[in-house]
Amino acid sequence: MLQGKRILLIVAGGIAAYKSLELVRLLRRGGATVCAVLTESGAQFVTPLSLQALTEDKVYSDLFSLTDECEMGHIQLSRDADLVVIAPATANILAKLRAGIADDLATAVLLATDKSVLAAPGMNVRMWEHSATIENLAALASRGVLFVGPNAGDMACGEHGAGRMAEPQEILAAIQSALNAETPLGGRSALVTSGPTWEAIDPVRYIANRSSGKQGHAIASVLAGLGARTTLVTGPTRLGDPVGVHIVHIESAREMFDACADALPVDIAVCAAAVSDWRVAKAAGQKLKKDGNATPPVLKLSENPDILAALAAAGSRRPKLVVGFAAETEYVVEHAVSKRQRKGCDWVVANNVSSTSGTFGGDDNTVHLISDMGTEDWPRMGKEEVAARLGARIAAHFEKYTSCIP
Ligand code: CTP
Repeated sequence: MLQGKRILLIVAGGIAAYKSLELVRLLRRGGATVCAVLTESGAQFVTPLSLQALTEDKVYSDLFSLTDECEMGHIQLSRDADLVVIAPATANILAKLRAGIADDLATAVLLATDKSVLAAPGMNVRMWEHSATIENLAALASRGVLFVGPNAGDMACGEHGAGRMAEPQEILAAIQSALNAETPLGGRSALVTSGPTWEAIDPVRYIANRSSGKQGHAIASVLAGLGARTTLVTGPTRLGDPVGVHIVHIESAREMFDACADALPVDIAVCAAAVSDWRVAKAAGQKLKKDGNATPPVLKLSENPDILAALAAAGSRRPKLVVGFAAETEYVVEHAVSKRQRKGCDWVVANNVSSTSGTFGGDDNTVHLISDMGTEDWPRMGKEEVAARLGARIAAHFEKYTSCIP
């Protein structure tokens, strides 16, 4: 969804400016073009050269530079973008934006733009809590300025509290939803589980399974691309984090359960993770030793919570659409149909995971989509294509859903 988009990034003077370099990297990785405007105080924290290297473009900073005005005036600079992002947005630049002051290139661009503005505030906690800042924010929000963060935590100045600029991934997700307001799942939120879970036996050993996470990660990317604010809760995999998705890394099924509960409420839940059904009832605190000729230990197992079934039974917090997967090695459709009923989910994507199918760890999948409309057999295709088709079905479902709601 970032592909081909043009972001005008204003880097103001805050210690968090270094995080904006990572934001540029993520935006570029997602296919966006970034044009950077660096304020005079921003240049105290990051160099124009770093921004230029990462954006692979000229960095603008001077309102009165003749060359800049020749090549691209500030009006055009602000209009060419799909979205204007201020990161970090200091108390100073927010105050100027509220007051309509345009005394440098960054503020002139902000005043001239006809595009949405997304600000990622970053400042000291006292400045953040000052009534002047609070009033400025309220006024800007009422004019349609979008905000992401700030977060609470330790500050560079040694104090603790709200004011830390949001992390680059969070800003990226906010950029995606700002860009996606008009997209099929714009304004919707999604939760996807992916990968295996690891259940500890002792501090060095664990029970796991062969899930690669490819299918779940691909679904999270597609839903984010369709505009949904997407959280991906994933067990350990070798995959990189998908761009534009909020990622929560977990190891055990119980951690996945908690992370999913924390992500509610959401409109869509897709449980693609291969959750371990059992965990070791009492994982050893120290490494289990062979201890001479002692007999091998017997592991007593306890059942893990069923995340999909819990989401489907979450009462008022139940996602509007709950999609499960069924990993089967025989009677694929029959087992999946009864799994759908047992777990109370709306749709089940059934797949054959027998050792000859090549599904676990492989790139392709042959699936059947089971819903109250019956069973659809999809031809064998790449996992990314399965994700794209499923995403399209979800988007179509919500289009219908929205049009049914008065
Ligand atoms: N699932 C879950 N939590 C669990 C077990 C499974 O959320 N503790 C979800 C999976 O993510 C998947 C669906 O339930 O969406 C079905 O998983 P599957 O492994 O096929 O079935 P199981 O519930 O484990 O049942 P069985 O082992 O009997 O096939």
